[in-house]
Amino acid sequence: MAASTITRAVIPAAGAGTRLLPATKVVPKELMPLIDRPVIQWAVEEAIASGVNDLLIVTSRGKSLIADHFDRHEELEHLLERRQKERELEAVRSVGEGARFHYTRQAEPLGLGHAVLQGAAHIGHHPFGVLLPDDVMVGSQPVLGQLAAHLQPGVCVVAAIPVPRAEASRYGIASGRMQDGVMQVEHLVEKPPPGKVTTDPAWAVMGRYVLDGGIFDVLAGLPPGAGGEIQLTDALAERAREGRLLAVAFEGRRYDVGDQLGYVKAVVRAALDRPDLAPAVSRYLRDLMESDRW
Ligand code: UTP
Repeated sequence: MAASTITRAVIPAAGAGTRLLPATKVVPKELMPLIDRPVIQWAVEEAIASGVNDLLIVTSRGKSLIADHFDRHEELEHLLERRQKERELEAVRSVGEGARFHYTRQAEPLGLGHAVLQGAAHIGHHPFGVLLPDDVMVGSQPVLGQLAAHLQPGVCVVAAIPVPRAEASRYGIASGRMQDGVMQVEHLVEKPPPGKVTTDPAWAVMGRYVLDGGIFDVLAGLPPGAGGEIQLTDALAERAREGRLLAVAFEGRRYDVGDQLGYVKAVVRAALDRPDLAPAVSRYLRDLMESDRW
């Protein structure tokens, strides 16, 4: 298998973020901070580290702050310069450095598949990545790049992690034989009913994808699926039936920051991954466990 590269990606960020309401009433979910960076910046940095520098962000009404975040802010830079806040200046200047940003709108949240379809004109027939910003992925190698290493013409690649069978009904589940970390997916089912999945663990598809440009034709022809939405999983299920879908057991951890518990876990874990914060945070967590003095 020849390793290949992608240079473009779509970042869908037009969803309503209902699970984090009321925090997301005004602030887009994608701008919720993980320590000092909004979650969408983590996805952008992962894309850039994977060699992807052309990014199309799909937004919607009330989400224009996302574009502001990735713009230069000269007034703020001058203020930081005057105050000689060099660390902060560098942090502000380097936001999104190395990428070209494009934006398109999804007029209604008609589903993830519909959001990806909004990228058709920009992407054309090139293979491209998709990063869901509320799935934060942390690995020793960028996860999108791990998937792109398995790219072949006309084939789609998805990220997968093992989950206990009892939890399978919460995810898109891929089945087939996982060998050396790669599965040729035979079936892909969105949120299978309890009892339907027989393997333990089951392989759940998570928010990173490398797709062939032909996927737009599939998406455009799909009827609404689960929840009345155009589901990306339904398009990928077609690729699985054609023998053109790989699932990769990537190296790294994944946090669903669109969910309240997942968000808390991600903040704690991100703090423990930071050499400057880890000693104080782990001391705090130990104290918390050992006493009731908060
Ligand atoms: P989610 O289903 O996790 O996001 O979609 P959501 O719908 O905003 O959240 P809840 O379930 O109401 O809490 C994953 C990603 O896909 C985007 C979301 O913005 C998120 O980044 N998305 C989802 C769209 O862009 N458009 C859609 O129609 C749906």
